[in-house]
Amino acid sequence: MIDFENVSKTYPNGTHALNNVSLHIDKGEFVFIVGASGAGKSTFLKLIMREEIPTSGEITINGNKLSKLKKRDVPYLRRHMGIVFQDFRLIDKMNVFDNVAFAMRAVGENSATVKKRVPYVLDLVGLKDKMKDKPSELSGGEQQRVSLARALVNNPEIIVADEPTGNIDPELSHEIIELLTQINSMGTTVLVVTHEHELVREFNQRVITIDKGRVVSDSAEELVDVSEGAFDDSDYAEEYGDSYSDIAPDSPEQVQAEEESRDISSHSGAHYAPDEEDEDGSEPPRYPDNVVIIPD
Ligand SMILES: Nc1ncnc2c1ncn2[C@@H]1O[C@H](COP(=O)(O)OP(=O)(O)O)[C@@H](O)[C@H]1O
Ligand SMILES: [Mg+2]
Repeated sequence: MIDFENVSKTYPNGTHALNNVSLHIDKGEFVFIVGASGAGKSTFLKLIMREEIPTSGEITINGNKLSKLKKRDVPYLRRHMGIVFQDFRLIDKMNVFDNVAFAMRAVGENSATVKKRVPYVLDLVGLKDKMKDKPSELSGGEQQRVSLARALVNNPEIIVADEPTGNIDPELSHEIIELLTQINSMGTTVLVVTHEHELVREFNQRVITIDKGRVVSDSAEELVDVSEGAFDDSDYAEEYGDSYSDIAPDSPEQVQAEEESRDISSHSGAHYAPDEEDEDGSEPPRYPDNVVIIPD
């Protein structure tokens, strides 16, 4: 979904903010981006949102090379992104409902859809009964939840959040990340910049560390190298034994890998206990008497 290929960004004043960054983020991933102040985290996100343009290298989003994107196409790119800012950026003249509705009206949604969708997303972030309140009447955590609702309301494929917990209490920070993980579990790709290491530890997600404009670590690569050719089912089965079958989808490959893992585990003494009934192979499945099998 998001690809960086040797991306560098030097600002006009000569600051090298990003230096030869290459990485891949899949659809549906949750990624923390961490690093010291000035490391290049915000620049990384701004390049994805096309608020900044790389000095060299290529960024591809959903198969579209950003270097080929025309200026008039940028709003279409952004339509697929929900953006959450550290300072919320809510409009204080408008109540909570209108702050969220504003994002929908901006992309031309009709008022019937707005009336249905806004309460739905406000409910999702736990603020349905604050719809008529002004942002200034809410706590920091609540304001950030409004901005999350606004980021979500157009059903984006990617949520980009730059230090979303930077201006709220630590207890509420947890709540915001929890919400982001829930949103992620519904299929949205989520990128979160934070420097709260406590949060990163608590939520067991991919962590990309940027230092002086370079990616110095990426937990996805440390856990299992998924680059071309590096991922081999049988190696994985060898390392993880039977647990492989718990996470892999049902497929012929799975069946084969499972068999391989049994072979391997019998050599390595891993904990595979053959099931007696499976072993003799000929037992047809038995159903309780009250189960009616309807042929198709
Ligand atoms: N618009 C800009 N013009 C010049 N330098 C910038 C600009 N934005 C960021 N920088 C510099 O680029 C480096 C990386 O900044 P940034 O991406 O904001 O880091 P982070 O978000 O990790 O704190 C810093 O040295 C910063 O001062
Ligand atoms: Mg920043």
